[in-house]
Amino acid sequence: MKDQISVAIFGCGNMGSTHARKLAKMNNVRLRYLVDVNEESAIRLKKELDAELTSSDYRTALDDKEVDIVIICTHHHLHAPMSIASAQAGKHIFCEKPLALTMEDCLAITEAVEKAGVKFMMGFQARFSPFVLKLKEVVPHPWVIIAQLIDPKWGESIWANDPIEGGGNVLSQGCHCFDVTCFLSGSKPVSIYAEGGNFHHPSLPIIDSVACTLRFENGSVANVTVGDFGNPALMGKSAYQVFAGSVTATLFKYYNEPEVRLWGKEPSRITIDDLPGCNDSHIAHGYTQQIQALIDWVSKDIDPVNAAKVRDGMLATELALKAFESIKTHQPQSVISDQC
Ligand SMILES: NC(=O)c1ccc[n+]([C@@H]2O[C@H](COP(=O)([O-])OP(=O)(O)OC[C@H]3O[C@@H](n4cnc5c(N)ncnc54)[C@H](O)[C@@H]3O)[C@@H](O)[C@H]2O)c1
Repeated sequence: MKDQISVAIFGCGNMGSTHARKLAKMNNVRLRYLVDVNEESAIRLKKELDAELTSSDYRTALDDKEVDIVIICTHHHLHAPMSIASAQAGKHIFCEKPLALTMEDCLAITEAVEKAGVKFMMGFQARFSPFVLKLKEVVPHPWVIIAQLIDPKWGESIWANDPIEGGGNVLSQGCHCFDVTCFLSGSKPVSIYAEGGNFHHPSLPIIDSVACTLRFENGSVANVTVGDFGNPALMGKSAYQVFAGSVTATLFKYYNEPEVRLWGKEPSRITIDDLPGCNDSHIAHGYTQQIQALIDWVSKDIDPVNAAKVRDGMLATELALKAFESIKTHQPQSVISDQC
């Protein structure tokens, strides 16, 4: 039990600021370090939230014995060096998705985290969403899952489409969909077959669209379709359907007006008005509960059983990379994360 938890944030852009604003409201949290290579961003946030220190170099915060948790909110190519250095410095880690863009980096992070014995949580907040948890409660052992995370075309020049810094839509954002599918299945994927390609970004060396079939250890299967190939007018950007014969649960319009429809179970319709706090989109999507779970884990040693840990992060990246490999080879790929 630790009364006060000191946090350092690496990257004070969009997500770094979002997490910092939540942490600043918690009585047992000190915002010890705000780090951004563009220190002006860190200084601006420090003034807004009355944080303690800023730096342009994350190693300065790692040298600070006061820092308990590092929250990594930079572009994706920096997740590996920052996570590995943080683990080696004995800091607990929260890393935004995706864990990394290559299996080599994922394995190096996992090894460093497990060797150091530090706590590691991935930014897969949907696992804390009351809507996703409702699907899991109603259909705990799905036979078939149909999952999608589909966007209109992303800009050519946005960093998330850069093959080095971001990885493109499937690695960068689709990892959420792979992770939620594994979470809902309650089993481990053993193989993946995919078709797809580069439909919308001929000038970029990325695969922007995949339609995959996954098989799980327990015999269940899933279809996962992700990419920025168009506007999903009916279901909204993200949707999940879970089937178990006599019961079906469907979550749709997840990112705008999340709603669950049930078949074979009452009530047949669940909206933001039916789930406590879900009028607040950060509760509906799990961001608030995720950060609270992180602080409770480090301060009170309460294991956040639903949270994605480092191997869940590796698995989500592996599924995206194996989907690419399957598209190139036209062969199903074995999933190995669990055996590493
Ligand atoms: N979980 C979610 O729903 C969600 C949503 C959006 C973004 N994200 C993730 O959050 C992360 C950050 O995305 P963002 O949208 O906040 O990006 P952003 O561009 O808004 O912020 C990134 C920040 O990192 C800083 N930075 C760059 N190099 C640095 C370094 N060496 N040291 C310290 N800071 C450095 C940049 O100056 C910038 O301020 C990504 O992993 C992204 O995928 C997650």
